[in-house]
Amino acid sequence: MPQTKTALIVGASRGIGLGLVKTLRDQGWSVIATVRSENPEGPHTLPGVEVHPLDITNQFAVKSFAEQMHNQPLDLLFVCAGIAGPQHQSASNADDHEILDVFQTNAIAPLSVAQQLSGNLKEGAVLAFMSSVMGSVEGNQSGGMELYRASKAALNSMIRSYAARLSNRKIAVLALHPGWVRTAMGGEQAPVSVSESAEGLVAQIEKRQGSAQQGFFDYLGESIAW
Ligand SMILES: NC(=O)c1ccc[n+]([C@@H]2O[C@H](COP(=O)([O-])OP(=O)(O)OC[C@H]3O[C@@H](n4cnc5c(N)ncnc54)[C@H](OP(=O)(O)O)[C@@H]3O)[C@@H](O)[C@H]2O)c1
Repeated sequence: MPQTKTALIVGASRGIGLGLVKTLRDQGWSVIATVRSENPEGPHTLPGVEVHPLDITNQFAVKSFAEQMHNQPLDLLFVCAGIAGPQHQSASNADDHEILDVFQTNAIAPLSVAQQLSGNLKEGAVLAFMSSVMGSVEGNQSGGMELYRASKAALNSMIRSYAARLSNRKIAVLALHPGWVRTAMGGEQAPVSVSESAEGLVAQIEKRQGSAQQGFFDYLGESIAW
């Protein structure tokens, strides 16, 4: 019988993170989920899913969570948590708190979480980060969402630096774009449902297990320019 694979989804209280937990669980994975805040319809309602509280911007909490996860081998670590940043999205209007919040949450904390849990990743595992096509510097022809874009571009840069350091291990390191998805962040007019996005993302992950591949892809497997 094939061994059950284990995934840790960070930032799974709602939206695409929660969708990933549901999809992976339905596909037979053993799933551990972290949530910053409680949602009555969150991952704790799904039988078999182990849930831990975690605010990824709280360095003490991340360290303590990593200690708790000691001895927990992972086939997938997916850091999904993210925020849109202030509505004005303007460099000239942003105050220190807004700048710190969006860059810390979207770019720095995801890498800190990954680095502190890297010892848990099995050889052949996938380390995935929720990026966005908006983080593509080359693809940015339209502007808009400027602070969010910059934070995801910074995330992509952090991912590539870390991937270079991990190149002596057999781990696939992926920056993934989920599509434009109907969530609190994506809005009601977004064309892609949470389940469509999550199923596509899981398919991309499954495809790259054991490959040690590095890259920036969308949920349908299309490569995106950095
Ligand atoms: N929706 C889209 O169209 C789209 C497109 C491209 C990329 N993305 C990316 O996909 C990811 C998920 O987005 P979504 O659409 O599912 O958004 P969402 O519905 O707003 O959910 C965001 C999730 O991130 C969590 N989170 C935010 N800050 C956190 C922190 N400091 N610590 C732990 N968890 C935190 C939230 O937890 P709380 O419930 O506690 O707030 C929530 O679970 C984000 O990284 C986003 O940038 C989304």
